[in-house]
Amino acid sequence: APSDPDLVARARAAKEKLGDRLFVLGHHYQRDEVIQFADVTGDSFKLARDAAARPDAEYIVFCGVHFMAESADILTGPEQKVILPDLAAGCSMADMARIAQVERAWEALATAGMQDVVVPVTYMNSSAAIKAFCGRNGGVVCTSSNAEVALDWAFAQKGEDTKVLFLPDQHLGRNTAVLQLGYSLDECVVWNPLLPNGGLTAEELAGARMILWKGHCSVHGRFSAEVIDELRAKVEDLNVLVHPECQHEVVLKADLVGSTEFIIKTIEAAPAGSSWAIGTELNLVQRLANAHPDKNIMFLDRNVCYCSTMNRIDLPHFVWALENLVDGVVVNQIEVDPQTETDALTALQRMLDLPG
Ligand code: 13P
Ligand code: SF4
Repeated sequence: APSDPDLVARARAAKEKLGDRLFVLGHHYQRDEVIQFADVTGDSFKLARDAAARPDAEYIVFCGVHFMAESADILTGPEQKVILPDLAAGCSMADMARIAQVERAWEALATAGMQDVVVPVTYMNSSAAIKAFCGRNGGVVCTSSNAEVALDWAFAQKGEDTKVLFLPDQHLGRNTAVLQLGYSLDECVVWNPLLPNGGLTAEELAGARMILWKGHCSVHGRFSAEVIDELRAKVEDLNVLVHPECQHEVVLKADLVGSTEFIIKTIEAAPAGSSWAIGTELNLVQRLANAHPDKNIMFLDRNVCYCSTMNRIDLPHFVWALENLVDGVVVNQIEVDPQTETDALTALQRMLDLPG
């Protein structure tokens, strides 16, 4: 639907009044009505770097989800205030790993005698508390655009017996370990936090290289291998491009896999007339289809599937946050406590220092 012209004018006016004091970051899954006001757009990795690139901005308005705003707070200066226009913009995947559960899993691994060989790696899509846990325990953060290098780094930390505890997305962990690092599916086991010892036997743990947390993205979990087959039967020379949060069998059937930034660059570079089925959030796929009318771009699902929490950031919430800032009122500030921030920064900095 077109944006409310009154709200567009109010957002413009507030943005102009705030000038250089304000910096607006927008994730690629944001609505068009919001993304039009972003000073920079990006995937999780690019936004983490961009957040740190404007140390002079007093207010960072983060149009994305809670874990991204937390990371921005960790990576920006103490005087800078990070604002999430709607506090209900969480991430169901990030919520699947709670710090108490992760601490329990870590203790169970120690009891099994594995404390010297396990390196924790967390996907960016996790709470600051879990990033801090990784920082304290010799681990690292990764995103969908650097998971391979981050895992290479992790596997080099404890000699040839190193195992990785990968949080919280089992699919990104499995896809990267199997398709990029060459581990077998048998070497990937799933840790279920609701069961004692993750539901794993001592033998299963001993044979594992990747201990995958039982988490997933409910949006990307919907894409299926059957729909890929159906579309390939209908559309000649179809290219299938998916995000690594998709299930392993979907990624296996795809032609290309990568982060949201990679998906955009791939479509921009694609020749006119080429056909693409894209398996990622719908706001991004629709925006790509609108921006490239000369290419045949379709969504890799029979149904509409937006990320409902990304969609929480709408124009009314954005205008509300900005107009409050104009009045000198900071609403919805995301502030990570100092100890968590220090430890989480250790893990984030290890990621930013990775080669490539
Ligand atoms: P990207 O890092 O590819 O932007 O992915 C973030 C995300 O939440 C995907 O669901
Ligand atoms: Fe989280 Fe999935 Fe939404 Fe990304 S698309 S923010 S992983 S729920």
